[in-house]
Amino acid sequence: MDSKKGQWGSNFGFLMAAVGSAVGLGNIWGFPYKMGISGGFAFLLIYLVLAVLVGFVIMLGELVIGRKTGKGVLAAYQDLSANYAWIGWMGTICPFLIMSFYTVLGGYAIKYMVANLGDFFHASWGVAGMDSGAFFGNFLVQPVQGIIYTFIFLLITYLIVRGGVQKGIEAFSVIAMPALFVLLLIAILRSLTLPGAMEGLAFMFKPNFEVFNGTGWITVLGRAGGQMFFSLSLGMGCMITYGSYLQKKENIEKNAIMIPFLDTLVAVMAGMAVMPAVFAFGMEPGGGPGLLFVTLQGVFAAMGGIGPIFGFLFYLFIVLAAISSAISLLEVATATFIDKAIAKGKEPNRHMATLWCSVGIFALAIIVAADGLGSNGLPMPLGFIWLDFFDLFSEGIMMPLGALAMSLIIGWKLGPDWMEDEITASGHKWSGKTFAMVCFRYIAPLGMVFILIGQLNGFFGWGLF
Ligand code: PHE
Repeated sequence: MDSKKGQWGSNFGFLMAAVGSAVGLGNIWGFPYKMGISGGFAFLLIYLVLAVLVGFVIMLGELVIGRKTGKGVLAAYQDLSANYAWIGWMGTICPFLIMSFYTVLGGYAIKYMVANLGDFFHASWGVAGMDSGAFFGNFLVQPVQGIIYTFIFLLITYLIVRGGVQKGIEAFSVIAMPALFVLLLIAILRSLTLPGAMEGLAFMFKPNFEVFNGTGWITVLGRAGGQMFFSLSLGMGCMITYGSYLQKKENIEKNAIMIPFLDTLVAVMAGMAVMPAVFAFGMEPGGGPGLLFVTLQGVFAAMGGIGPIFGFLFYLFIVLAAISSAISLLEVATATFIDKAIAKGKEPNRHMATLWCSVGIFALAIIVAADGLGSNGLPMPLGFIWLDFFDLFSEGIMMPLGALAMSLIIGWKLGPDWMEDEITASGHKWSGKTFAMVCFRYIAPLGMVFILIGQLNGFFGWGLF
């Protein structure tokens, strides 16, 4: 561990930062809807099995690689072998691609926080009684506004990461994550006490085995796998980077269990906040930006005088969830530059590294913001809107590929002793060794191939299953 790079002050601080990375837009707009349309409780069971057999071990592998090498994703893979550098490069490019749209969506959430505040004061800059679909549509065709809000979101992210591992990321996470949890509890309480709320719970939880008929199970499995993957921030070196700041005395195996557990808990809870309210007001459930910025805003409008307060608190919740994920993405990129400086024997300059990475991200984000989810007539690469185009390369291709390669390398090249050496460095036993190695060698790679195909099938509409 290089002292120039920083370290987590406590295991709690690390855990909050890692859970902060995992809990994000994916939990709120992806999980509840996908669970609802994919078999309800049956989907949840499949998701949990995948989280244990694939998510957990890939998390464990990334944390071990990070702590053992003490480096960010590129330098870590280069250290392992020059042949693996390409995985490190994918991990370096990924955060730029994901941030290109994550910052835009985070900016939208800030805009909605402001708009609900405006409504509270009956100001002209609120939603002011406009239909929520029209309000969003109107916002999307104003690229300059979109770019300004994106900038604000990125600026906050930049300032936190610039502060360093302990004084920036950890300090923010130990306050933001508990606050996020409280906000979520408030939202659940409001949502579940609305008349008609039970229908929303039924949508999410009622087991529906019909979706498994024919090849339906492949679709469900692919959907659950893709969701799990993005939601746990795996496959692009986030957890390698965060693991590299973990002290040797901390128990890696326990952390690798806690992060997926808490991430799934928040995903289920987010569903309990969102779906009952959607159904109580007779709206159609959905996923993606439409759910966050049209359906839910419609819910807050329908709540009457109290609506803007809940609206403000809910969008604050989303902003906190998005920032804690965004800082982990920016940190992956920043760490690469810091590693480079150290490798050259220079004093690393975190401020400059963070700044240049942010500038690069902003350049891409401007395109996504100006595109306004395809509203402004920008040319469409490969027929995609820009958000989906950047998402395809990161979430669709590089992340599953990175994780596939990693589990094969750990399973077949580095082997159990290499892993055990690091896991037991804290003085704890590696209790799940045999299980984990079977997962690394066989189950996780198989699962990853499947997820990769499922993702591409979804993006390109191959209609395979
Ligand atoms: N896990 C985050 C979410 O669910 C997204 C993310 C992916 C963050 C990859 C970091 C790295 O929204």
